[in-house]
Amino acid sequence: MQLDKLEATAREMVASGRGILAMDESTGTCTSRFEKLGVVSTEQNRLSYRQMLVTAPGISDYISGAILFDETIRQKVNGEIPFASYLDRIGIVPGIKVDKGAKVLAGHPEEKVTEGLDGLRERLEEYVTLGARFAKWRAVITIGDGIPTDACIMANAHALARYVALCQEAGVVPIVEPEVLMDGTHDIATCRAITEKTLSVVYEQLDQQGVALGGTVLKPNMVLSGKECLEQADVDEVAEQTVDCLRATVPSEVGGIAFLSGGQTDEQATLHLNRMNQLEVDLPWRLTFSYGRALQQAPMKAWSGDNSKQAEVHGEVLKRAMVNAFASKGEYTSELGSFTV
Ligand code: G3H
Repeated sequence: MQLDKLEATAREMVASGRGILAMDESTGTCTSRFEKLGVVSTEQNRLSYRQMLVTAPGISDYISGAILFDETIRQKVNGEIPFASYLDRIGIVPGIKVDKGAKVLAGHPEEKVTEGLDGLRERLEEYVTLGARFAKWRAVITIGDGIPTDACIMANAHALARYVALCQEAGVVPIVEPEVLMDGTHDIATCRAITEKTLSVVYEQLDQQGVALGGTVLKPNMVLSGKECLEQADVDEVAEQTVDCLRATVPSEVGGIAFLSGGQTDEQATLHLNRMNQLEVDLPWRLTFSYGRALQQAPMKAWSGDNSKQAEVHGEVLKRAMVNAFASKGEYTSELGSFTV
């Protein structure tokens, strides 16, 4: 294992004042987002939209890494240069989603386990030749009546640990993403308890596989009230509960932490990250973002299938990236930008 290289890449991914752009939606997810805007999801449309995101002038001032989907890493920006080479050239670390999606966990019809370990060694080898320097694997934990079960948490944590080991063998930094979903009526205390349990089991499993934590980046959910919970925790409580939860479960050696947005509004995702970075606690890791929806909702809407809107798309993605970059230093203020989506 090339530990120095892995640690250096992880540090680059969570570099101060920058964060990760998650643009790795599977074709199915991308299609449903495009359809909501009345856009047909063709390969060319997905390319047109995604190349607008990465060609926003100065985007690398705020974005340290970008997570690509299999289709995208094989495409060329402006028909000229492969996505990963383009990103490298502008100072953004190229990454790749390598999981094959969350499928129903046998014997547990309401729960999911992420698939994709079969053939992963070979796929990683190919992705390295295509320029990927980090990878992403997302596990999904649902809160509901009697769930998550220990079986679901364990199955997902074990798969994550095996994925991490394979990535590190290939010289690729794994993003470890165990997402406790915010869907549901549960309160913030329940989210805290389930997130804490999930992260504890994940790090037990990573430990058993003997991986090098300094060459990994954690992508957790924030600790939030369920979306349909009548009592919504405020920004201070979310920030405090999330940071306390991470301090209780995440080993200090971990290379960095980059949150998912997970269905929060753009504004919530920024304010929560900002507040966490303002708390007067000494943390062993940097806290930044690896947002999909919270970075892309506004630019995707500005585009809405019309390629003549490039300037608007650039403006929106730069605005979202910039406010979150400031939030990653605890320096966001409302003068930096409003939230319109
Ligand atoms: O795996 C999920 C994405 O990389 C992050 O997406 O910020 O929309 O939750 P999100």
